Amino acid sequence: MTETALNLERVQALLKTRLVGRAGERQNELWESIDSTNSRACEIAREGAPAGVIVLAREQTAGRGRLGRQWLSQRDAGLYMSFLLRPRQKGQELCLFTIATGVAVSEALEEATHIKVGLKWVNDLIVDGRKLGGILAEMPAGTAVDGLNSALVIGIGININADYASVPDELRTKLISLKMAGVSSLDANSIAAAIANQLERKLTMLENGQHEALVDQWRNKSITLGKEVQTVVNGRELHGIARDITLDGALLIEKADGDRVMLHAGEVSIRNADGSYA
Ligand code: BTN
Repeated sequence: MTETALNLERVQALLKTRLVGRAGERQNELWESIDSTNSRACEIAREGAPAGVIVLAREQTAGRGRLGRQWLSQRDAGLYMSFLLRPRQKGQELCLFTIATGVAVSEALEEATHIKVGLKWVNDLIVDGRKLGGILAEMPAGTAVDGLNSALVIGIGININADYASVPDELRTKLISLKMAGVSSLDANSIAAAIANQLERKLTMLENGQHEALVDQWRNKSITLGKEVQTVVNGRELHGIARDITLDGALLIEKADGDRVMLHAGEVSIRNADGSYA
């Protein structure tokens, strides 16, 4: 397998963007090692850095997943990248940005590696039923202006080279990397740039109010819709069929009694053929 390590000049040379990765005076960052690219992007957001900065790292010592989970981030085993954005339209749901990013990453990976990536609501990137990556969208604390957040950080983690030989069995069967999926030539720089390019397109769609078209793109890549799902709302287990997502990215679940519940945050497990949930 050919592997090309991360190189900021190479990523930047492949950008076809106007905003993402082009923050003027403020440089994009590539760290040999950092606690978390999301934490760093939140930090520079508080310092007033402009929209568009990309933070990349070869390794994270405290990579964060959603719901307070740890994100395994060994050196060069994955792509760890965060984007600092300052959306002009205020009050949009975090889950909508996660939806937009999911479509962007799926399209970018298809373009850069020919691997088809399915989307599990709200932030999971799935290949062959296993998790290839995830998205962590955050409003950095301390950046609110007039009660509204002025900054948004989108973090993306993708498993590239890992083979998970040393992780517990229970976790190994749930994870996949591009290497395990059979991608023979891996260039982290092309993947990072393709993601930035696609992300800008999806953010432009949001800015132009093309929510329906964007949500449609997500629907076409969804592995959640039409499935029996389980989640927990206010401490109570809820079962139903995932029917659709709304224009702000919330998941509509139809319960057995016909009632519909709208989920704006959290996560769902999908029922397998054997009745278990994953
Ligand atoms: C998830 O599936 O729970 C989301 C995982 C997001 C991981 C990425 S890696 C780059 C960025 N920095 C972090 O600390 N987390 C995100």
